[in-house]
Amino acid sequence: MSHKSNFLAPQAFEADVIDCQVIGTVPRGLNGAFVRVGGDWAYPPKNPDDSVFNQDGYVSRFRFRDGKVDYKGRWIQTERYRRNRAAGRQLYGYYRNPYDCEPEVAHVEEPWRNTVANTSLEVNAGRLFALKEDARPTEIDPVTLETRGSFNFGGKYKSQTFTAHPKIDPETGELLTFGYEATGLATDDLFFYVIDKAGEVTREVRLKVPYVSMVHDWAITDKHVIFPVFGYVTDEARLRKGRIHWTFDAEAPTYFGILPRNGDASDLRWFKGPNRAIVHTFNARTVGDRVVLEAPIFDNNPFPFFPNADGTPWDPVKGRSYIRRISFDLNSKDDGYEEEILFPDLPVVDLGRVDERFMGRDTRYAYTSFNDLSKPLDRDRIGEGIRHIVNSYGVFDLKDRTMRSFYAGPTHGLQEVTFVPRHAAADEGDGWLIGTASNFADMCTELVVADARHPEDGTVARVILPFRSNVQVHGRWYSDAQLQFD
Ligand SMILES: [Fe+2]
Repeated sequence: MSHKSNFLAPQAFEADVIDCQVIGTVPRGLNGAFVRVGGDWAYPPKNPDDSVFNQDGYVSRFRFRDGKVDYKGRWIQTERYRRNRAAGRQLYGYYRNPYDCEPEVAHVEEPWRNTVANTSLEVNAGRLFALKEDARPTEIDPVTLETRGSFNFGGKYKSQTFTAHPKIDPETGELLTFGYEATGLATDDLFFYVIDKAGEVTREVRLKVPYVSMVHDWAITDKHVIFPVFGYVTDEARLRKGRIHWTFDAEAPTYFGILPRNGDASDLRWFKGPNRAIVHTFNARTVGDRVVLEAPIFDNNPFPFFPNADGTPWDPVKGRSYIRRISFDLNSKDDGYEEEILFPDLPVVDLGRVDERFMGRDTRYAYTSFNDLSKPLDRDRIGEGIRHIVNSYGVFDLKDRTMRSFYAGPTHGLQEVTFVPRHAAADEGDGWLIGTASNFADMCTELVVADARHPEDGTVARVILPFRSNVQVHGRWYSDAQLQFD
């Protein structure tokens, strides 16, 4: 019997599940926690066409111990969440537009106060942070998942904003990060930071971007950092009109700013190319005088809720991403770069990950999700309400350009994949693929575990939640020691 799935309707509750049901066997060596954040509407959005990026933050954790898994999920108690709860309704307007908020919570001069902290996570010096690129980190108690509040590294972190995708250098343990719109709404300031293992800000470089754009993710190498600037634009006038923060300008060139990690602002070099959208990256490396970036990249606007500047309707075909390799010649006289599509027949979800023990170094494997049209889909049990299905993880070999895949099943939609090494000294790619899946037929959320070396063998374990949890944006794997568990 066909039905209209209600899977993506809000799930406005918190939960603890002790010793979750498991189908299969959780690997004994898989001890630690998969922590994920995403959003949900505590109250319906003021504007029905608003971005899901504007949902209230929700953090959840699957803790693995000796084959058992416990789950905990909590709202992130941002100022905005608390103000809404006190009012009992939605006070905030379009994504990142204080002018569209009710006046008592507008905070036009302090837009970071309106964050929903719903995008990603990072740990530094024993602190767990929920991140969103419009604000500084929101500290979360790693054990209880209670919200501790906004964190500014002892006042030494000056940017008003902090990326959702900081990078940890695997050799130094340093946290490399940045904030764009660093000095306020629609400002062209981007501040780059290095924060050491003890949580001390050791370096700040103040940069200017060619135009104000979404700098959602970036990349590092052992010698350089790379900032993409692409397509999405905004300005004060647009925001004063009460519009959603971004519009996509298909005429805007793409820029990549490359800065030596030890350089200052005068060492920043901008490379320029045709219009693209680079929301996430896989990894990058410096090889002699070249910098190589690998990333899933879109030809055009990936998000239908950020309208095209020329008024044309969103194009889902142009909004697909393909895995590409971008090469920059640091000795070149001009500002161009080389671009190559590595898997031209396979559009992918752009939530790309690598084995993060090799962040900034040459990596063979990239992991992301895609929809394998050759695999069965049980539309009768899923219902018609879910249109877009992502049923597979891909293990992409970027060296020989082959791909192996994990298929989640005919009623399952996958969220972002995360790679967990089998043990600390395991070879690159030897480990587990984990992530949450929406079981649209049973209306529950599952966490799937597969062997990254044998993805086609299917799930090693499925951890079943007895309800549907919010959909994740990004998740990370941490050891008990990183999360300060006893
Ligand atoms: Fe992201």
